[in-house]
Amino acid sequence: MCGIVGYVGRNHASPFLIHALGKLEYRGYDSAGIAVCNDGNLNVLKKKGRIQVLKNALNGLFGFDGTSGIGHTRWATHGEPSDTNAHPHTCESGKISVVHNGIIENYMILKKSLENKGVIFKSQTDTEVIVAMMGFFYNGDIFNTVRKTILSLEGSFALGILCADYPEQVIAVKKESPLVIGFGDNENYIASDISAFVDKTKKICRLDECEIAVLNSDSVNFYNFNGEKIEKNLTNIDWTIGSSEKDGFEHYMLKEIMEQPAAVRATIKPRIKNNEIIMNELDKFDKKYINSIKKICIVACGSAYHVGVAAKYIFETLIKIPVEVDLASEFRYRSPVINTETLMIIISQSGETADSLAVLRESKRHGAKVLAIVNVVGSSIASESDFVFYTWAGIEISVATTKAYSAQLASIYLFAFYIAKIRDSLTNENSYKKYLDSINKLPDLITNILETKEEIYKIAKKYTACDNVFFLGRGLDYAVSLEGSLKFKEVSYIHSEAYAAGELKHGTISLIETGTLVYAIATNKRLFEKTVSNIREVIARGAVCVVITTESKKTDISDFASDIICIPDAPEFMLASLAVVPLQLIAYYTAVMLGRDIDKPRNLAKSVTVE
Ligand code: M6R
Repeated sequence: MCGIVGYVGRNHASPFLIHALGKLEYRGYDSAGIAVCNDGNLNVLKKKGRIQVLKNALNGLFGFDGTSGIGHTRWATHGEPSDTNAHPHTCESGKISVVHNGIIENYMILKKSLENKGVIFKSQTDTEVIVAMMGFFYNGDIFNTVRKTILSLEGSFALGILCADYPEQVIAVKKESPLVIGFGDNENYIASDISAFVDKTKKICRLDECEIAVLNSDSVNFYNFNGEKIEKNLTNIDWTIGSSEKDGFEHYMLKEIMEQPAAVRATIKPRIKNNEIIMNELDKFDKKYINSIKKICIVACGSAYHVGVAAKYIFETLIKIPVEVDLASEFRYRSPVINTETLMIIISQSGETADSLAVLRESKRHGAKVLAIVNVVGSSIASESDFVFYTWAGIEISVATTKAYSAQLASIYLFAFYIAKIRDSLTNENSYKKYLDSINKLPDLITNILETKEEIYKIAKKYTACDNVFFLGRGLDYAVSLEGSLKFKEVSYIHSEAYAAGELKHGTISLIETGTLVYAIATNKRLFEKTVSNIREVIARGAVCVVITTESKKTDISDFASDIICIPDAPEFMLASLAVVPLQLIAYYTAVMLGRDIDKPRNLAKSVTVE
């Protein structure tokens, strides 16, 4: 979603701003712009479309040589994508420019009141209200003008602010939308996420709720919304897996699919020592608390929610605690029954998803403890949870998540066995050591599947010309179907649906006709025969069925499957991690063949920071 960048230093700001905006492209956007303070004036350039359009317009343009500036990629919420609605927005006097990520909920009231005082608005955005107010209040003291303005705002806002009277300063504000400060050598940066400046500095500090940062080239000072100075610690970030470059791959999505063994290994390896699961992060999880848990609620969005669906099967089998799984956007507006005996688990790659963050806060108000499974270190969800379990998947750029999803699933296995051991809920059959051995082998098993990618490419190629696709499965295979279908539709733009295989005949089977493409996931040994019956039902109605199954079951389906994709045999709970890999590759190759915008599918954003 919207991305903010800012620079103050000794060098020209605009080359950094354009470069940094490019690094945030993956978040999803429809227009981009910059403002630079030059000889006491603010010069603003903003364009609908890709950053390249902005870059072309900037080429040779006079007035953008200043050493402080702010930039923005906009994902339209209030008002269509256009040059006018793009950020930065500037007040009537031209002295103050603002970039914003979030939504100002009371903007209509504020706008009316300013209009009544004679202020004229140019755009349809909520953001322009912020800068118009600053312009209205401005009396030469920019810091207090900013403070006075933000105290009137309701909603979420990360802001970058530039004032012509303070040419060597950028102000950053955070409330509910992420903002991080980077510390360089005689230059400092702001950005919505560290990928914007990670090639410049690894020394960072995230703004916490209701904080302001005032950046000059050689200093950064922090304040709360009351204007009181506060001290904050700097962190040195460490990118373990994958860089923010494509490293020779045509797309980030393929690069990240191929990084899955490393991402899963980095997530599990430090946590399994001498046949024990070591969870230093969960030290605060004392035995008494673990034994007091009566219900687990897993809440997330998109692919992270699909991990939750898989987790329900795994937890109920291994831990034997009732588990609810819900979409964050639904959970936050129902009346969930949660209390101190409920463990809330929020799963999120970015750690900034607005709906998931809202659920976290609501859960804490009910007295429930919150465990976050998060990829981005220090993100809002990580910072506000009681316990954080990091997936060490490294930076994920492609909007379609792959390696973070796999690292989240691996975390679920570790967590399930960790809790099961403490609660003594493992049966002999589910012996601890045997399963730890299997988890350790998971990265290599994923590698084995990735090595068959040419075969998977051929299958994807055969079925590119389809309009509708169904993904079917039962149990954990159903959880994988959900993810396979989402991956497929989000990058290929072909309609697809995931269905619990046994549910199809309760309505949806009427959509199956001659030639309908079905990807059936049949890896679960206990449910295999049931799934096969459902596959036969769709084939009997004309469907073309590609079946994903295990090596040992391959021959059982060879007489009716149009194509078979084999994954290695493994313990049941781990098959989800294996079956999803060919589905990711199918989605990727189909989208490539259709010429789609793989890493930034239309209308999508990587980090969904608005409701
Ligand atoms: O950052 P999060 O994991 O909280 O994001 C949740 C979803 O927006 C995300 O998983 C989305 O569904 C992916 N783009 C799917 O590939």
